[in-house]
Amino acid sequence: MTIGVGVANGKIILMGEHSVVYGKPAIALPFSKASIRCSVDFHESENSIRCIYYEGLLVDAPSVLDGVKVLVESTLKHLDKPEQGINLNIESDLPPQRGLGSSAAVSVAVVRSLFDAFKVPLSEEDLSNLVNIAEAVHHVNPSGLDASTIASGKVVYYQHGSEKRFIPMHLNGVIVVADTGKHGQTKQAVSEVRDLWIKNPDDINPILDRLGELTLEASEYLSTNNLIGLGKTMTEAHGLLRKINVSDDTLEQLVSVAIANGALGAKLTGGGKGGCMIALCSSTKEAEKMATHLRNAGATNTWFYDLQEIISDE
Ligand code: MEV
Repeated sequence: MTIGVGVANGKIILMGEHSVVYGKPAIALPFSKASIRCSVDFHESENSIRCIYYEGLLVDAPSVLDGVKVLVESTLKHLDKPEQGINLNIESDLPPQRGLGSSAAVSVAVVRSLFDAFKVPLSEEDLSNLVNIAEAVHHVNPSGLDASTIASGKVVYYQHGSEKRFIPMHLNGVIVVADTGKHGQTKQAVSEVRDLWIKNPDDINPILDRLGELTLEASEYLSTNNLIGLGKTMTEAHGLLRKINVSDDTLEQLVSVAIANGALGAKLTGGGKGGCMIALCSSTKEAEKMATHLRNAGATNTWFYDLQEIISDE
């Protein structure tokens, strides 16, 4: 019998992926088009899990679930119930490994379901802290951006070490999110950028600095409804992300098709090396045409994302 439920959405990084790991600001939006649901029931024996990757005892689960194993242990300890046997059932329509935050969303749903099961109120701070424990297993050195955005469900301006802030949005635009169909490789991309940075700091630091400046410009454009300005910052950011080798042929193809067909801006989103890209359009009609172009160019899935529907904090 289900005794606790937790739900979470994904996220889209609008600006600042990778440079956020180096202390630069980033902006991320909640991605409410797809979600993850985790339900929990108690049982006498060892912890078990059912999800797309695996069904069985948590202790025997494949390495892709290492973060969940650590998370369950840490959350039960936090709740002072380390001995309680639980059974997790995770259902998702958020595609995994596409830069849409599915790993952090699974973690948020798991933590929420366990707190719900024990009827303990959950603060956003405890939620982010617990989720970051799992993120540290999935990624080399997570910035905390994914956990923060997904835990809050709001438009987040995030900089490591600073208080996160919620951005007021006044934007009449539509973002098309397109899936290359190829698994993104965040962990590998993050560690390759680190190697590049260690080898060539004089080349890489100015790129990271410029990505930080573009995020600042974008936050201004979000609150002043400057779609043209926002689009330009997105396209410039994509060029810089390409220079640090986190794009790939599938992303390049979709970004160039978007620009050639009148997108106001386009870039990869998330860790890169596969995964998803985003294209900014001025209306739903334009976004529908854009989605058709992107699908014709190989996108395996597209979602519309009306920026007016996003919860902002005012
Ligand atoms: C991954 O969604 C975003 C990266 O910036 C990594 C991170 O922030 O930890 C690539």
